[in-house]
Amino acid sequence: MLATNKIPPHVKSARLKTWVTEMIALCKPADVHWCDGSQEEYDDLCEQLVAAGTFKRLNPEKRPGSFLAWSDPSDVARVEDRTYICSTKKEDAGPTNNWVDPREMKATLTKLFDGSMTGRTMYVIPFSMGPIGSNISYIGYEITDSPYVVVNMKLMTRMGRQVDEALGESDVFVPCLHSVGMPLSPGQKDISWPCNPTVKYIVHFPEERLIWSYGSGYGGNALLGKKCLALRIASVIGRDEGWMAEHMLILGVTDPKGRKTYVAAAFPSACGKTNFAMLIPPKEIEGWKVSTIGDDIAWLKPASDGKLYAINPEAGYFGVAPGTNYKTNPNAMRTIEKNTIFTNVALTDDGDVWWEGMDGDPPAHAIDWQGKEWTPDCGRKAAHPNSRFTVHASQNPAIDPAWEDPKGVPISALIFGGRRSTVTPLVYQPLSWAFGVYAAATMGSEMTAAAFGNIGEVRRDPMAMVPFCGYHMGTYFNHWFHMGRKFPIPPRIFCVNWFRKDKDGKFLWPGFGENMRVLKWIVERANGSARAVEGPLGYAPTYEDLDWRGSDFTHEQFEEVMSVDRAEWMKEILSHDELFIKLYDRLPKEILSVRDLLLSGLYRSPNRWQPPDYGTVNS
Ligand code: OXD
Ligand code: MN
Repeated sequence: MLATNKIPPHVKSARLKTWVTEMIALCKPADVHWCDGSQEEYDDLCEQLVAAGTFKRLNPEKRPGSFLAWSDPSDVARVEDRTYICSTKKEDAGPTNNWVDPREMKATLTKLFDGSMTGRTMYVIPFSMGPIGSNISYIGYEITDSPYVVVNMKLMTRMGRQVDEALGESDVFVPCLHSVGMPLSPGQKDISWPCNPTVKYIVHFPEERLIWSYGSGYGGNALLGKKCLALRIASVIGRDEGWMAEHMLILGVTDPKGRKTYVAAAFPSACGKTNFAMLIPPKEIEGWKVSTIGDDIAWLKPASDGKLYAINPEAGYFGVAPGTNYKTNPNAMRTIEKNTIFTNVALTDDGDVWWEGMDGDPPAHAIDWQGKEWTPDCGRKAAHPNSRFTVHASQNPAIDPAWEDPKGVPISALIFGGRRSTVTPLVYQPLSWAFGVYAAATMGSEMTAAAFGNIGEVRRDPMAMVPFCGYHMGTYFNHWFHMGRKFPIPPRIFCVNWFRKDKDGKFLWPGFGENMRVLKWIVERANGSARAVEGPLGYAPTYEDLDWRGSDFTHEQFEEVMSVDRAEWMKEILSHDELFIKLYDRLPKEILSVRDLLLSGLYRSPNRWQPPDYGTVNS
């Protein structure tokens, strides 16, 4: 039996050595590989994945250094109904999380993990969420039997030997155990995407800061640094230590005078966070530039200068492929020109990748994500709607020079956006931190393909964190109110909705690069230089307050996309109550006070409100 001699001598943490030794004894792998994070290791593993049929090497002329993987059709998204927060007390997990008593869950999982790596290699991945050595960063160790996970973790985190060194003798790390849940008996041939098609568990023990994931090889369930550590476990650590782990992109906006303003923005999964984080302004908005710090997760900590600082704990992007093209996100397309792992997109006859919504005409023939012959008229999608690219952030041409700054970047504004075809206007600024927290807490969104569920249904997704908050949402709201009180001037909060539609179901707002017009107003507003008028929800720009250079968006269109309908909003606020009743036992008192003030404001507003027209247009 394998034992402690599998732990390299440079590893000094007693807790780490004990944990790995115990996990070897439990999972019974055929071999153990301690990852050093080197390029040679990455290349070797990619070769092995090609030999195993998990990876196809893409045409080196078209897509150098890149690979394509097709998953099992049962393993294509996060599995929220199999995701658990096993706090000691059920009340602490709250009604939006699945809960099982941690002792019972450990007993169930221990049986599943017992021998789960038979016939496979166990990889031990040292990783840091955030720049190594930053006081905002956190170290994790992922044990996995999936080489696909190892190579993805190499792109998504700071991974390898330097993390062992940064940990040294310390015991402070998050242990993350992962198995695809498919042991191999002697002589049994492996399949290209091993997973357990029927038994899956994604489990968090928040008090122990521990993660166990079984049965899935898909990104969000298996790359445990991302949603599991950087959001679910980190949200609990942040609550306890006075900071915030949020489902937010971070971007920098540079104005023509060279002034840099950083903002963080929360949108539910598959609502265009990556596109927004890499936005290229319309050329007519001269001198303005957007740069990326991160596209999915922000860790936000108050500093002694009274400001809120943010880091991106990740080092790469795990972006949704369909819909990405040189128009919607040119920077992403350039980022993934090489050294990229694609999952569940289609393979073209010339050895490149394709997905719905890529530039140009669809190929006449391809192999779809399920390995079947595909033609444009076959009636099936070539790429899975939740197909992904994994790529290191350094390849992003719009990467911000401060993206690895260990102290983070100062955040001036927080933006929240849902996917709502009705009700919510294009942009507004809630009156204060408390009104902003209320707006974020009651965010609604129509479901997308990033998780299993009914596509199109509106669900309340406070701060876009429902699938990712490791504790009771009511306590989480309270943490937000509490954080606001830590600052002399808290960052301004804004709400946006890129997805409003007209009566015929057509999008009212062009989105993508055009979002710069809204972002520019937000940045100017946060810096105290943009005008706004008061409305029933807070402050809003008039038509003339946005920069329309190079746009033919009309005043009437603006009125439509900014309109607030009183009857719709009364219904909307009534439906907030459903959420509040659900969270009643921990709902902060501020929530109901703000709701009453909002109701009172709506009551005195006209039936249909839009910012007044002051006549002149910027040019
Ligand atoms: C993601 C998600 O993958 O939110 O980022 O689902
Ligand atoms: Mn996400």
